[in-house]
Amino acid sequence: MTTLKLENLRKEYGDVVAVKGLDLSIRDGEFLVIVGPSGCGKSTTLRLLAGLETVTDGAIWMDDREVTNTEPKDRNVAMVFQNYALYPHMTGRRNITFGMNSSGSYSDEEIDRRVAEAADTLDITDLLDRKPQAMSGGERQRVALGRAIVRDPDAFLMDEPLSNLDAKLRIQMRAELARLHAEFNTTTVYVTHDQTEAMTLGERVVVMNDGEIMQVDPPQTLYDYPKNRFVAEFIGDPAMNMLDVVVEHDFAVHEAFRLPLHREEADGSGVDLGTTRDAVLGIRPEDLYLAAERPDLGKTEFTARVDVTEPLGDNLLVHCSVGDDLFKMQAAPRSSLEPGGTVSVTYDPARLHLFDPETGDAFYHSTESVSSDESVERATTD
Ligand SMILES: Nc1ncnc2c1ncn2[C@@H]1O[C@H](COP(=O)(O)OP(=O)(O)OP(=O)(O)O)[C@@H](O)[C@H]1O
Ligand SMILES: [Mg+2]
Repeated sequence: MTTLKLENLRKEYGDVVAVKGLDLSIRDGEFLVIVGPSGCGKSTTLRLLAGLETVTDGAIWMDDREVTNTEPKDRNVAMVFQNYALYPHMTGRRNITFGMNSSGSYSDEEIDRRVAEAADTLDITDLLDRKPQAMSGGERQRVALGRAIVRDPDAFLMDEPLSNLDAKLRIQMRAELARLHAEFNTTTVYVTHDQTEAMTLGERVVVMNDGEIMQVDPPQTLYDYPKNRFVAEFIGDPAMNMLDVVVEHDFAVHEAFRLPLHREEADGSGVDLGTTRDAVLGIRPEDLYLAAERPDLGKTEFTARVDVTEPLGDNLLVHCSVGDDLFKMQAAPRSSLEPGGTVSVTYDPARLHLFDPETGDAFYHSTESVSSDESVERATTD
């Protein structure tokens, strides 16, 4: 059993504060993904966990053992890197076993047995006698995983292990990693900047920005209840639309529309919508519809101008504007929409989000349908 705990973990490189006091507990057997934009401190966090960087402040625990200043080799974690870090002059087998013989912890028979097992699991038996230059990217990545697996570590630490692979192979290896985790159930911390990888692999996902944790939650919770604008715009593709509105008497009011809000959240807790306040309305492109396509959603709708359409095959991405504000929505494929024309737009009333314009913090997530009486309200600005 292996739990990992970061306590107020901080890392400075001269003037750069790469990691600004992280608190995080990783459960035994958990697959935890850290996601965030380039430079936000993901790799630094992982390297601190591995012991490859010294900690400026704070502590790291593995189970009930503090390992903050423990040598990497004494932490029993296995790191997998983006560039595989294989030795070019060694065969697959030597790459996998390198360092095991000299460590004295394993007999030759034990090493052979472990390599055979890992090779079987990863389907790389045929590659063991080849050198890396005679392997494809995916094969090299498998060998690098093999090197991590044979050590039977207490935790896997993976830093963008799939990002050097082409799109198709990445999806295949993603499934492979999920399978390996289901088989071994080893505590895993996985770093990526790819939100699809984060959402599909993570039991919980940590969203980082600028050296800080923005939110830690299961993928669906991040998508449904983002705690702030950063998470809302980072998770989801195309990104959530953000429109400036005024919240007035339980309506989100824009020059083009008036959308009803309600004061009770799904868990029964009340929301303080105040009497009047500025807010940023967040609504995902996939929660907006052409009114003609979704008559069931009631009549609340507004008119928008079509700027550009992008056929994506399974749907049509429509770039629209209302007044000076731009937004995107998804329509059924093959919808005949002309740039320059107008569309009637409706939306899923259970999927509105409101953010504070100053702090960016979310203060409202609608969670249930608004009754049809309310939704008959129409934009009254014209
Ligand atoms: N050895 C170093 N010396 C100085 N600054 C560093 C060093 N390593 C990282 N940094 C800085 O720390 C910050 C975090 O870097 P880190 O590598 O952790 O980012 P990342 O989230 O992994 O980004 P990416 O997605 O690009 O890999 C960046 O501003 C980076 O420039
Ligand atoms: Mg990195």
